[in-house]
Amino acid sequence: MDLGFGGEISDLYHRFRRGYPPELIRAVAEAFSLGGDDLVIDLGCGTGQLATPMARQVRAVIGVDPEPDMLARARSAALEQGVSNVGWMVGKDTDLPLLQSLLGERVGALTIGQALHWMDHETLFATAGALLRPGGGIAVVSNGIPLWLQDSDWSRALRAWLQDWLGAGPTNSCGTDEDARQRYAESMIANGFEVSQVKIDSTEELDFDHLVGGLYSSLSVDRLPPPEERAELEASLRSALDPHRPYVEDVPVRAVLGTKIT
Ligand SMILES: C[S@@+](CC[C@H](N)C(=O)[O-])C[C@H]1O[C@@H](n2cnc3c(N)ncnc32)[C@H](O)[C@@H]1O
Repeated sequence: MDLGFGGEISDLYHRFRRGYPPELIRAVAEAFSLGGDDLVIDLGCGTGQLATPMARQVRAVIGVDPEPDMLARARSAALEQGVSNVGWMVGKDTDLPLLQSLLGERVGALTIGQALHWMDHETLFATAGALLRPGGGIAVVSNGIPLWLQDSDWSRALRAWLQDWLGAGPTNSCGTDEDARQRYAESMIANGFEVSQVKIDSTEELDFDHLVGGLYSSLSVDRLPPPEERAELEASLRSALDPHRPYVEDVPVRAVLGTKIT
């Protein structure tokens, strides 16, 4: 099934999705004692927001994603940043048994950034232990909350505008909410992992272009407005949001870490 992450969406992702803070990368590395001998698998790597900085901590990373356009973007972006120890593989969560038979029980961390809601996490956590080395683990990471779910006047105005435009108010939290984290933590524990959590809070002021780019990047490619309609659409959005400037976004970064107990 095409999930709509190809084509222009991969460009929008690359341009407008923020990377993870260095504290998060350090916290994952420390939790699993990652070092220069380690391998990391980043599932649902997208354009490499998590895979590329993780690669600086370890020997090599395999970024796995079903969308070839995301992987092509990830590869060029990593090389532009001087990172060449990432292999980019077309694949998905159900390929974990294959990776296990290729790599054995030698992986330091399985990371999943903003992507677990697309996967069967129960099956994933049940199979992940077989490829993790002792002391290694799973990191389920989220990077902020959707623009339309912020607790602010501009975000409420955005929700109302989206309701008019799409005919339905977006409610999807994309796995970034506390309930989802709780479910992931319980499932990790049930599969023999020791769980801890990381919380890093910050705020960021968005300009209008980043707000629109972030919004478009969260649509599937078939729902993107045609280029010739965008100027009018964006003018309407601008006038809806303008009274609520500045667009200050809360960026709660969260990680549920499951360490393999031996
Ligand atoms: C929201 S992006 C996250 C990108 C990046 N990891 C980040 O943290 O920003 C979600 C990614 O998950 C990928 N994806 C969707 N279903 C997947 C699956 N079953 N297995 C692996 N990746 C999947 C999509 O192609 C997309 O690139």
